[in-house]
Amino acid sequence: MPRCIVVDAVHPDPAAIAAAARILRAGGLVAFPTETVYGLGANALDADAVGRIFVAKGRPADDPLIVHVLDAAGAGDRTLAAAWPPIAARLTDAFWPGPLTVVVPRGPAIPPIVTACLPMVALRAPAHPVARALLAAAGVPIAAPSANPFGRTSPTTAAHVIAGLGDRVDLVLDGGPCAIGVESTVVDCTTDPIRVLRPGGIPLEAIRAIAPDAIAAEAIVPEAIVPDAALPAADAAASPSPGTQPRHYAPRARLVLVTGNDGDIVATIRAAAVRLAAAGKRVGLLVAAGDEVPVDAERIVAVCLAPLDNPSLAAHRLFAALHALDAQDVDVILARDWPARDLGLALQDRLRRAAQGGTVLADGTAAPVMARS
Ligand code: TXA
Ligand code: MG
Repeated sequence: MPRCIVVDAVHPDPAAIAAAARILRAGGLVAFPTETVYGLGANALDADAVGRIFVAKGRPADDPLIVHVLDAAGAGDRTLAAAWPPIAARLTDAFWPGPLTVVVPRGPAIPPIVTACLPMVALRAPAHPVARALLAAAGVPIAAPSANPFGRTSPTTAAHVIAGLGDRVDLVLDGGPCAIGVESTVVDCTTDPIRVLRPGGIPLEAIRAIAPDAIAAEAIVPEAIVPDAALPAADAAASPSPGTQPRHYAPRARLVLVTGNDGDIVATIRAAAVRLAAAGKRVGLLVAAGDEVPVDAERIVAVCLAPLDNPSLAAHRLFAALHALDAQDVDVILARDWPARDLGLALQDRLRRAAQGGTVLADGTAAPVMARS
């Protein structure tokens, strides 16, 4: 088990922050809370330290990291960002500190390993007081992906970090659960119009209030057609087939996303849950308040994410719910789809990426599933 220090989320103990900053400056890894998810941090200016992040997560070297800074003055420092496009200035004025990441031309101080050799760097100023205190004490920008093994569910508590990464991290700062619970919105500011590369904690509607022509990156790519028989058969494997890359945000159990007409979604989930339970499977259900689903102490566990008209609350609870279902050793998770409003777009994105069991349209026909990214 790694060393873990509990800190107050608003007024973290300076001694704990100083200890964490010392580890970062010495090239070590510190997991820390942000308002989105926990990050696995290293000194962004130290290529060896950043290399340890890739090893600890089992992350492929072609997947670039976000660099955390205190503010736009720090980010706009030409050694980090070689240029600071006017739209980046307007977006960061509006949303920093907060769950927004801007992609801008990479400055000379950022080692290529951070950006997977791309000529752009992703920068974010987090709002969480613990993350900010750590940045201030370390005195260096902090490269930090979400603190989970590559492809698995992102952590929203220190316990999730420890369960996933264990001793691969030198210190965990436990600042309690993350307020937003879904990662930052990533916006590429090097193109005109700008592109939202990943939906996240700042809704697309809010980005478009600043940049009306912002393009939402293609969210769903028809990669494969999943027959409706893809609703897990009784003997379905509990995990994706070996040799295939795990999809992002995936829990250990196979997750099937059920989309389509609302009434049909619930009926489809109900029928599949009963069938799977009868075949001896443990089934987890990710549903909305008011959804009528069977629950059975032995075989079927339902988690209510939120009322259907509050997708932001559902997004906030998603990762914790996936971790909780994993802890209950379910074989299959049947998840309902949600409206795209507010953080619903980020929620839809994470559910599609987690759905290594496919996406099923509740009228019995198949829906395209998301391509890997
Ligand atoms: O909320 C968050 O963003 C969290 C917390 C810890 O800040 N971090 C996070 O990092 O989610 P990670 O590594 O799990 O996701 C980083 C995302 C990926 O989608 C990656 O492709 C994109 O940012 N990204 C990073 N650098 C990029 C670059 N130079 N160009 C384009 N996309 C980039
Ligand atoms: Mg991640």
